[in-house]
Formats: sequence, C-alpha cells, structure tokens
Amino acid sequence: MTKKLKAPIKPDTRLVTSGRDPEAYHGFVNPPVYHASTLLYPTAEDQVAHRARYNYGRRGTPTSEALENALREMSGEACAGVALLPSGLAAISAALLATSRAGDHILVPDSVYRPTRNFCEGVFKRLGAQTTYYDPVIGTDIAKLFKPNTRVVFVEAPGSQSFEMQDIPAIAKVAHEKGALVLMDNTWATPLYFRAFEKGVDMEIQAGTKYIGGHSDIMFGCVSANAATLPTLKDTVYSMGLCVGPDDMYLALRGLRTLGVRLERHYQSGLRVARWFEQRPEVLRVLHPGLESDPGHKIWKRDFNGASGLFSVVFKPTSEQSVHAFLNELALFGLGFSWGGFESLAILFDCTEYRTATKWAPGGPTARFHIGLEDPEDLIGDLERGFDAMARASGRKTS
Ligand SMILES: Cc1ncc(COP(=O)(O)O)c(C=O)c1O
Repeated sequence: MTKKLKAPIKPDTRLVTSGRDPEAYHGFVNPPVYHASTLLYPTAEDQVAHRARYNYGRRGTPTSEALENALREMSGEACAGVALLPSGLAAISAALLATSRAGDHILVPDSVYRPTRNFCEGVFKRLGAQTTYYDPVIGTDIAKLFKPNTRVVFVEAPGSQSFEMQDIPAIAKVAHEKGALVLMDNTWATPLYFRAFEKGVDMEIQAGTKYIGGHSDIMFGCVSANAATLPTLKDTVYSMGLCVGPDDMYLALRGLRTLGVRLERHYQSGLRVARWFEQRPEVLRVLHPGLESDPGHKIWKRDFNGASGLFSVVFKPTSEQSVHAFLNELALFGLGFSWGGFESLAILFDCTEYRTATKWAPGGPTARFHIGLEDPEDLIGDLERGFDAMARASGRKTS
C-alpha cells in the first residue's frame, strides 16, 4: 500500500493490502497486466550498463513483482522472497532441483502427491539423486533414515488423498540437527492455516492452481524461501527460464484478495460435510485431521489454524458398481482432478499400487471430496441422493 500502515495487521487485512501500489498506477486499485518480453533502454550507455528497473519480461515485470510481494507477505517475516512457477508441480520440481545435487539423498513421505514421487523416480533419479520414502507419521524416528548425504526432507501435511498428519516441527528439528533442509508442500493449509516458516520449514511450496487461484481457471505455483535458500531457488528458476503468463499472474493476485473469506467457508463447510459423512452407515472412516476421531487431530489442533475443504471417505466394503452409482448420481459434485476452486468435486482413488514404505489398506473403497462454496445443506442433499443410488445398485433398501 502507498500509505504507511500504522499498526501491525492481521493476515486477512494483509491479503488485501499486500503487493499494492496504486500511486504507481495512476491511482488504480490493481496493478496493470504487463504483456511483455522486450524492454527498451533510452540510450546505448543504459543498455550496456543494464540500467533499468526491469530488464526482460522473463526476469520480472510490475505484475510479477506485485504478486511476489503479496505472496512473500503472506508467508511471513522469515520468507525472504518468492519464485513464481507455471504450475504447482513445476514449483515442487524447481524447489527440489534448487536444493539437491547429483549424489544427494532426500527423504519423502510415502503419502506425497503422486507426481512429486514420479519426479523423484524419473528426472531426479536420472540426475543421480536418490529418494527414500518414509511413513508420514514417523515423527522423530526419521533420524534413523538419515545418511551422510541426506540433503533434503520433503514434507506434506496432510498426506495427499490419504490425509495423514505430519509432526513437522519434530521432523524439522531432526533435519536441521543433521544439516538438511526442509521443503514443504503447503497447498492444503496455505500459509493462512499453517505457518510453515515458524514451524521450521526452509522452502514453502504452493500449487496456486488450487486455493490461491480459487476459480479452477489458472495453472500456477510458487515457492517461498528463507534467506538461506532464496539465492539457489532464484538462480535455478532463472536458469531454467521458468516464468508465468501475465494473465495467470494477475488472476493469482486477484484470488489472493479473497483467499481469507473463501478458505474460512471451505473449512467450515468441509467440516460440516465430513461430520455428516461420519454418521452415515455406509461409511467406515472419514480422513480429515479436523475431526476429533482422526489420528492426526492432536497435531492438527496444535499446529494448524484451520483446514481446507479437502478430505477423503472410506466406504464400507461394497461393489465397484455401487460406488460408481453413488458418484454418477451426484449433481453438485463434479468428477474431476484438482481442487481449491469454488465448486465441489469428487474422485475415486487407490494408493495401493505405489506406496513403498507403508501399506495402504483402508478397509473399503475410497473417494476424495472437495467441498466448494455451495450451501453445505444442498451438498448433503446431493450426497444423500448418492447414497440412495448406492443402495439401489447394491440391492439394499434405502433408509
Ligand atoms: C498437494 C498438491 N500439490 C501439488 C499439486 C500440483 O499442482 P498443479 O496441478 O498446479 O501442478 C497438486 C495438484 O493436484 C496437489 O494436490
């Protein structure tokens, strides 16, 4: 903001004020969208000396700067800077490439977002780095998995699809004692609900495609780094020529302004629907760390300020056909990947095939739900009709 703020401000206020400089843009509230590659220097002397605030579109524009500044403020004081990437997965791979070299070893939770695992098993392995997967609820026992060349501990809480909660402060303490860095995929909670740097994380990654964008219409990712890791992050991102299109950057910035109110609604509606699922006779378990019944609830309560709208449900054993009937009946839940937009979604998933450090045996078919911004009572009505269809498909009487 142009005017100097007179008192410390709360996170929701910061989302509204950060990265804005109306005076620089004729008083307009938002920064312009610079569609730019080439920048012209006034004189040969200026060009030779690179004398200009900006040099080239890929290296930054007022649009990217506004977004970077806003994201840096959101991550908190320990965040020294932010790199913008064209997707969440690009943010993950850039963070890993920035912090590891050939011959290094990294530790990754078995519950990690699957494409992160694919990156480790593919590109990362080809470059000569080795990955060990660990039980996400390992806590301080992670110390036993360190090797002399362990450079990075990756964390993601809760686990992708399976929602295990990780004790990140405990893991970070061990990692730092052993001289390793801690990288976190903080897409689920965002910095609003998990203060990653304050809990010992060195690099915080977000898939901005989800809650930052919030409308299922952009691809975007970002990495926030502390002072020790920012230079290598920036160097890696610049060297690989990674940058984000101006319209997506603008939409990410616009999404940030409403993130606080949207996330609060996703949180409350998500818990409401998760509690409703818990009472259903067709449900074995609901995987949501905000529920008192969840094994990760204590840690969630200690370390997190809230939850997003994403959780999973384990159905009691039933036929594939009846689970499909349930999903096919839903009118308010789209059947699609990704999440974090205004709309509700559902997908079936199964982690059995690719887990290596833990066994995935939930006891029944599993589905992940994203609770959007619709009225939760309408969503519950939709799900009730889904369960009726499930009963019909399995030949049971409806309740
Ligand atoms: C936890 C998590 N991290 C990262 C990503 C990757 O984001 P993107 O789709 O923007 O590459 C996803 C996408 O589903 C995700 O769920």
